[in-house]
Amino acid sequence: MDYATILTSVTGRAGLIQLNRPQQLNALNVTVMEEVATALEAFDQDERIGCIVITGNQRAFAAGADIKEMADATAVEMLLRDNIKRWDRIRQIKKPIIAAVSGYCLGGGCELAMTCDLIIASESAQFGQPEVNIGVMPGAGGTQRLTRAIGKSKAMEMVLTGRSMGAREAEQAGLVARVVPVEAYLDEALKLANEIASRPPIAVRLAKEAVNKAFETPLSDGLDYERRLFYFLFATDDQKEGMRAFVEKRPAEWHGR
Ligand code: CAA
Repeated sequence: MDYATILTSVTGRAGLIQLNRPQQLNALNVTVMEEVATALEAFDQDERIGCIVITGNQRAFAAGADIKEMADATAVEMLLRDNIKRWDRIRQIKKPIIAAVSGYCLGGGCELAMTCDLIIASESAQFGQPEVNIGVMPGAGGTQRLTRAIGKSKAMEMVLTGRSMGAREAEQAGLVARVVPVEAYLDEALKLANEIASRPPIAVRLAKEAVNKAFETPLSDGLDYERRLFYFLFATDDQKEGMRAFVEKRPAEWHGR
């Protein structure tokens, strides 16, 4: 499929979505978000794909929602357009999504990265929620996801001042899984995506679901949920194959059944 603002490709079993508005530092306008959601859904449906990577370019993952697109909007227009609702489609994706981030990862860009399941950052990545500097506040999950990722005090500092943090600080704070050199961050993310894609797909899918549940429920409900999914996996051929292969000291062959 041809997109206007993103590029898509496949490396091994990893689907790659690259934001492609470099002149605008990949500012997320309605078209970008519609295309990202559509491309994610297409990869999610594609049996050849086991994991998805979203990236930008070295200078910018994305510098936020498109300010020019909303500068003159009224509150009622914003409410009726409800563009952020489109982001809920990303939450419905079953396959793991990795954000491969370099350069500016600000506002809606940081929110998009945090909507993914994990973040691989280049050494030049800068994360921030600078909305307060343009008279608003994060609107696509920043106050919720950043707080859960790095804790209240640091999230408050960032959201209330708009300051951004570098990749190392983000790693120490728990926002990103790993920091890698600028020239390697995308390859690393694709390598990791292929590693995840080499695991049994149903176990991966339910594990993702269970970890995400940790953000939605009290501990006891989350533990019950996890246990049910764990027991359910014993209904899959891959569980039988995985445990037999371990006992027989051979590599397992996954069939996603
Ligand atoms: N929206 C629209 N256009 C943007 C943009 C954005 N978020 N960020 C950058 N651009 C555009 C600039 O307008 C500029 O376009 P022109 O060449 O046509 O003037 C181009 O991208 C390059 O940007 P700069 O010249 O500003 O580049 P710089 O290197 O001097 O600065 C920057 C880089 C510090 C990231 C700066 O561009 C910046 O501060 N951007 C805005 C960051 C921001 O406030 N993001 C939050 C947006 S609101 C939001 O995201 C709401 C939400 O929660 C959903």
